[in-house]
Formats: sequence, structure tokens, C-alpha cells
Amino acid sequence: ADIGDFAEKPVIGRECDGRWIALYRLEDGYFATQNLCTHAAALLSNGEIVDGHIECPAHYGLFDIRTGKAAGAPVSCDIDTYPVRLVGERVEVELPAWG
Ligand code: FES
Repeated sequence: ADIGDFAEKPVIGRECDGRWIALYRLEDGYFATQNLCTHAAALLSNGEIVDGHIECPAHYGLFDIRTGKAAGAPVSCDIDTYPVRLVGERVEVELPAWG
């Protein structure tokens, strides 16, 4: 993504290599997690950021954006997080290899 992609919303969704990723702009940098909620089939990128957490738009479960930890009912399974680096105006995510 480009940093300008966050102009309207601090969380956006992207598809890469067959995987759905949520990208976040927080006050201390950019972060990435899986986009699919572990509770059901909602996309976290359609949710809202609340105090460093992403609030799922379906049932309002919370995940810590920096660690992926499930932090509020009804979610109990963590989400994956991915390393992010800023290269000029680009936000790049390092995804693990399939398998
Ligand atoms: Fe995310 Fe239910 S689908 S909390």
C-alpha cells in the first residue's frame, strides 16, 4: 500500500498472494494482521480502531493490533501479525511462505 491510502481510514484491506491482509496506521507506525476475524467470516479492515485494538464489525470482538492477541469477547483465538517496513512512501508487509 501507499501511505496515502490511509488518508481516509487508518485501517485498509489488501489481498496479496491469495491472502487477505489488514494494514493499520497507528500513532507509532504501520502494522499488519490477517484480515479475517477468528470468530466468523468478517473482515477486520471494515472495523474500527479503538485504543490500539481493531474492533470486528460483526460482533465487536477486539484484537490487539500490535500482538494479534484476542482481547474481548466473543473472540478467543488470536490473529496472525506480520512484519511491516516503510520504504519511501510504500508500506510493505513480509508474509511467511505458504506451507
Ligand atoms: Fe468477528 Fe464475530 S466475526 S467478532
